[in-house]
Amino acid sequence: TGMFTFDRGYTSTASCRSRITFIDGDKGQLMYRGYDISYLAQERTFLDVAYLLLNKELPTIEQRVDFCLEMKKRSFIHEGMKKLFDAFPDNAHPMAILSAGVSALSTFYFEHIDIDNPDEYMEMAKRIVAKIPTIAAFSYRSSLGLPIIYPDLDRGFTENFLYMLRGYPHKHIDLKPIEIKALDTIFTLHADHEQNASTTTVRNVASTHAHPYAAISAGIGALWGRAHGGANESVIRQLEMIGSVDRVDEFIKRAKDKDDPFRLMGFGHRVYKNFDPRANILKKIRTELMKEIEIDSKLVEVANRIEEIALTDDYFISRKLYPNIDFYSGLILQALKIPKEMFAVIFVIGRTPGWISQWIELKEQPTIKIARPRQLYLGPVDITPKH
Ligand code: CMC
Repeated sequence: TGMFTFDRGYTSTASCRSRITFIDGDKGQLMYRGYDISYLAQERTFLDVAYLLLNKELPTIEQRVDFCLEMKKRSFIHEGMKKLFDAFPDNAHPMAILSAGVSALSTFYFEHIDIDNPDEYMEMAKRIVAKIPTIAAFSYRSSLGLPIIYPDLDRGFTENFLYMLRGYPHKHIDLKPIEIKALDTIFTLHADHEQNASTTTVRNVASTHAHPYAAISAGIGALWGRAHGGANESVIRQLEMIGSVDRVDEFIKRAKDKDDPFRLMGFGHRVYKNFDPRANILKKIRTELMKEIEIDSKLVEVANRIEEIALTDDYFISRKLYPNIDFYSGLILQALKIPKEMFAVIFVIGRTPGWISQWIELKEQPTIKIARPRQLYLGPVDITPKH
C-alpha cells in the first residue's frame, strides 16, 4: 500500500479526540458527555440535551428557563429568507430546501462575525439550533404550496415544530403530550453519534475555517443518503411493500439469500453488535403511543412478525443483526402524521446540536489541522507526449 495506510470507509481510523459521545458497541452503550442515553431520553428534554452538548453540562433550572426562552426568541427567521422558499418548484425535496436555507443563513446573519471568537460562535451555534425547525417546517409547507406558519412563543421547542408542520394559520391546535414526548425523544436519540458520516463532513468543512452555517449545510447533504439519514424512510417503504404478515417468511428468506440483494431494512449496525440502545427506548415509546393514538396496525403486525422471526433465526443471531433505531422510528413518525419525505429532516433537527458541538470542540483545539487524506493513485503516469 505504498507510503500510506489504506483504510477504505475509515473503519479503523480515529479522526479526532473527542469528549462528547461515548459508544460501546458490544455492550450496547451510548452516552452524551458521560450521561446514559436512557436517562437523557426518559428524564430529560431534547433542549436539556442540546444544552448539555453545547455547554458540556446539564442546565440548572434557571439556565433551562433562560435557554428555552432564548431558543423561542431566536426561532424566527429573517423575513427576507421567505423569498428563498418561493424560488423552489412544487414538490422540491425538503432536504434540498433545508440545506439551501441553512447555507443562506450565512448571508443574513454573518456580517462582522469573527468565527474565532467563542462568544460569537456560540451565538451562531444557538441561532442554528433555534432556527433549523422553522426552516424545516417552512421547507415542507412551501414545497406543497401550503401557507407557512410562524413559530408560536407559547409553545416549547418540539411542540412548536409539530405545530408549524401540522397547524393551520390563526387556528389553535392541541397536540397530545404523548405525541410531543415521542418526537422529543426521537430528537434526543439522534442528537449525536460520534464520528458518523455527516458529523465527519461537518468537521472536515470546519477544518478549513469555513463558518458553521456552511459546515451544517454540508452535514445535511451527507445525511440525505439512504445509507445514513434516509434509512428510516426505507424501513416504512419496505414494511408497506411486504404488506401483510403472511408475506414475511418470503422476505426473510430473501434477506438470507446471498444471491439476492434484498436486505431487511432497520436491521444491523456497523457499531452495535448486541443491541442498539436507541431502538430499545423507541420500542417502549411505540407501545405507549399505540395506547393513545392510532398507529397503522397492519404495519406494526408486519414489523412485529419480522422482529419475532429475526431474533430467533440463526442467520441473524450468528451475524449479530438486531433491530436498529430506524426500525422503530419510522412507524412512530408516521403515527405523528409526519410525511415520509420529512423523516430525514427530523434526523437533521435532532442531530444539529451534535454537529454544532463537534464544530465547537474542533474550534477549541489550540491548533486546527486541515482534514486532508491521501490516496493510492492507480492511474497512468508520465504519458504526456514529448516534443
Ligand atoms: N439483512 C440481511 N442481511 C444483513 C443485513 C440485513 N439488514 N445487514 C447485514 N447483513 C449481513 C450481510 O449480508 C453480511 O453477511 P455475510 O457475512 O454472510 O456476508 C453480514 O450480515 C455483515 O453485514 P455487513 O454489511 O458487512 O455489515 P456493515 O457493518 O458493513 O453494515 C449496515 C451495517 C447497517 C449498513 C447493514 O447492516 C445494513 O445494510 N442494514 C440495513 C440498512 C439499515 O437499517 N441502516 C440503518 C443503520 S442505523 C442508522 C444510521 O446509522 O444512520
